[in-house]
Amino acid sequence: MPNILVIHGPNLNLLGTRQPEVYGRHTLQDINQQLTMLAEQENTSLQFIQSNHEGALIDAIHQAREWAQGILINPGAYTHTSIAIRDAIAGVGLPAVEVHLSNIHARESFRHHSHIAPVCVGQIAGFGWRSYLLGLRALLDHLQPAKEDAK
Ligand code: DQA
Repeated sequence: MPNILVIHGPNLNLLGTRQPEVYGRHTLQDINQQLTMLAEQENTSLQFIQSNHEGALIDAIHQAREWAQGILINPGAYTHTSIAIRDAIAGVGLPAVEVHLSNIHARESFRHHSHIAPVCVGQIAGFGWRSYLLGLRALLDHLQPAKEDAK
């Protein structure tokens, strides 16, 4: 049974009321519930963290080395600024998938670059709350490739 750390970065605690035209009306709790349902189907255990503090996110990534097999992360605005979070993911060596509710590539140019994506297996952006489900699916497929893929 894989154990996955789900990380929600800064301002994502405001989901539901924060710029709903950009981020939708689902709350963080709604998203975590959807993820938990998918995880149960997939015999997977999730732990969640939301923090507005870069260091707290880094500490959680370090601790994940002890118990997790992968990381699902929406780094929020730290996507575009944080070399420290990038180094933490690279440092622990756990496979990570980056997700975004909005399509960061279709928004302001300062959102087009991710410091995090190069140390991730991949990035999913633009599908609203479903980005998280697609990201978890992708991470689990990466951890447990289908037999056909292994050929
Ligand atoms: C976000 C995109 C970021 O650019 C922004 O700073 C966020 C949310 C997203 O999920 O679409 O906080 O990560």
